[in-house]
Formats: sequence, C-alpha cells, structure tokens
Amino acid sequence: MSNNLRIPTILLVFLFAVSNASDCVKEKIQYDIARFTSSYKEEIEHHDDVVIKNDKEAFYINITGPVKSFCKGSINISVRSHHFWCGVSTLKTIEVGAFDNQIIDSQFIISGNKIKVVQTGLFHDLQVELMDLIYNEIEEIQENSIVNLPQLTTLHLSHNKISNLHPNAIRNTPKLQWFDISNNNLKTLGPKVFDFLRKEVIVGIGVSGNNLEKIDPKAFEGLNIYTLGLDNNHLSTIPDTIFTNNKELSEIHLANNSLTSLSDKFFEMKTLNFIYLSGNDFKCDTILKLRDLFKRGGYVKESPKNGRFVKILSYDEKDC
Ligand SMILES: *[C@@H]1O[C@H](CO)[C@@H](O)[C@H](O)[C@H]1NC(C)=O
Ligand SMILES: *[C@@H]1O[C@H](CO)[C@@H](O)[C@H](O)[C@H]1NC(C)=O
Ligand SMILES: *[C@@H]1O[C@H](CO)[C@@H](O)[C@H](O)[C@H]1NC(C)=O
Repeated sequence: MSNNLRIPTILLVFLFAVSNASDCVKEKIQYDIARFTSSYKEEIEHHDDVVIKNDKEAFYINITGPVKSFCKGSINISVRSHHFWCGVSTLKTIEVGAFDNQIIDSQFIISGNKIKVVQTGLFHDLQVELMDLIYNEIEEIQENSIVNLPQLTTLHLSHNKISNLHPNAIRNTPKLQWFDISNNNLKTLGPKVFDFLRKEVIVGIGVSGNNLEKIDPKAFEGLNIYTLGLDNNHLSTIPDTIFTNNKELSEIHLANNSLTSLSDKFFEMKTLNFIYLSGNDFKCDTILKLRDLFKRGGYVKESPKNGRFVKILSYDEKDC
C-alpha cells in the first residue's frame, strides 16, 4: 500500500472509533454501602470509585457524592442490595445499559436529580418493588423504557415535566398497583395509556396537577381503579366510562378543574367514599344533586381530627 492511501485509511479507522465511542464520561463516584452485621447492627462502608461494586449482600447503596452520569459499566451490583438510592441533585444522564443485570430487589430511588429523558431500554428485567424518579426534569418517557419488572408495585414519576408518555413506554409490570404521574405537563390522556396496569390488580392512579384538558373515554379501559387523582387540571368533562367501568372506585379527586356538571353515571355510583370536588363552578342542577347525595350518602365535608372513618364529599356551595 502506498503512503497516500494509508493515511486516509488510518483516518477512517480513527473516525469510526470516535463515532462509536460512548460519550458518557465515567468519573469517580462516592457512595455508601450499608450492611447488617451478624448482630443486626448497621455497618456503613464509604467508597470512592469509578465502578459502584457490591460483592456481599447489602441493605442499601446510597450515592453521596456529586455524580453527573451513570455510564454503562459504572455500576456492578453482582450481589443483591435491597435498595439503590441516589438523591444528590447532580445526576444528568443515565446511559442505556447502566442498570442492566443489577441485583436490586426493593427500592430504586433516583429523585431530585436532573434526568431529562427515560430512554428506550433504560430499565428492564429488574426485581425492584418500588421505582421512584420524582423531582427530576423528565420530559419524555420513551417507548419500551420501563419493561419486565415482575415485582414492581409502585412507580412514582411525579414532579417532572413529562409531556410525552409513549403508550408502550411501560410494559410487563404485572404487580403494579400505584402509578403516580402527578405534577407533570400531560395535556391529554389517550386511549389505553394505562395498558400496563392489569385488571386483576386493584390500582391507584395519580394524574393530579398536569395540564389535562381532555380524557379519552377509553383512557382507563380494562382497569380496576380504587383511587383516582385528576384534581388541579383543566378538565371540563369527565368521561362516564370512569364511573361505569370501575366497580370498586372508592376515592376520586376532581378539585380545581373547570367542571360545571356531573353526569347521572356519577350519581349512580355506590362505592365512592371520598369525593373531592371543590374549586369547580357547578351549575345549580348539579349543586342540588350534590346536596341530595351529601344527605342520603351520609358524607361529611372534611375528615375529622380524631381519625374516625367517615365518608367525605367536599364541593363549593352556592345560592341555588
Ligand atoms: C444518602 O446520601 C444522601 C446524600 O449524601 C444523604 O443526604 C442521605 O441522608 C443518605 N441516606 C442515608 C440513609 O444515609
Ligand atoms: C462484576 O463483579 C463481579 C464480582 O466482583 C465480577 O465477577 C464481574 O466480572 C464484574 N462484571 C463486570 C461487567 O465488570
Ligand atoms: C385548589 O387550588 C387552590 C389555589 O391554587 C389551592 O390553594 C388549593 O389547595 C387547591 N385545592 C385542592 C384540593 O387541591
């Protein structure tokens, strides 16, 4: 090979290597590992290392230093740690692959950080029971980003900036019973957005404090909801399917919306114990029906201090 051919070849190989290299920069990470000794005392080890490692059963791993990224290869939890916590406020990116094959079986909490996207393939095949990503800057939960979490019961995504929850973002979470995406930027709930929740599991869903203007009648299809939070949105109507499909609905939060009426299907429900409707300007025919429901249902306006079980119906009265 002549010299003038060799140079471009070397350049090409070099460019190829650069474009393929991950731009995730590994840095030293400070973290604590807590273990229980044989006498059930908690023992904490401090670490400062490029790879978070665990090779003996641990109670928790807690990030304590200002980490910016978790890269593929930054974490190697090869022996079980019950919890993984990161609340240091500096974390911006998690590279896809960083949490592959990590043995964490209880809480997974990355809250109060600066994560912007939950990418396709980010969290899969984990044994965690609780996943908490609250108070980040998440705008988007991409397709197939939270997949195959057979033990997951609770998923907290509140206090982010989510405007785009892909309909297949979350899949195969058969035990999930609490899904909270309140205080985000969702504008609508499309058909079957909660398809990852199973009908056999009675569930609680929180979508409070978004910018919801519209809910598709099929948004909650195939679910069995116990508690539903839709307060502090811009809803002017609520689809009847919510009242007709959920035979065990006990608690509904609709305060601070733009509702002016409630349908007959709502008034036909027999299972509602907690109904929150303040901050809506209902027309008189609805107010009259609410007064009637209040009396005949044995509700009170707010929960008493003594913690006694009561049924609550709160709404703003007006002259009718
Ligand atoms: C985990 O680390 C954070 C940040 O250093 C700290 O504020 C928090 O108290 C730690 N949690 C535990 C249980 O040690
Ligand atoms: C993770 O740690 C285990 C045990 O220390 C080791 O055998 C394994 O090779 C490590 N895996 C990676 C990907 O470094
Ligand atoms: C309704 O909005 C007002 C004003 O923002 C707030 O003070 C109140 O707590 C809200 N009520 C509920 C039940 O969220």
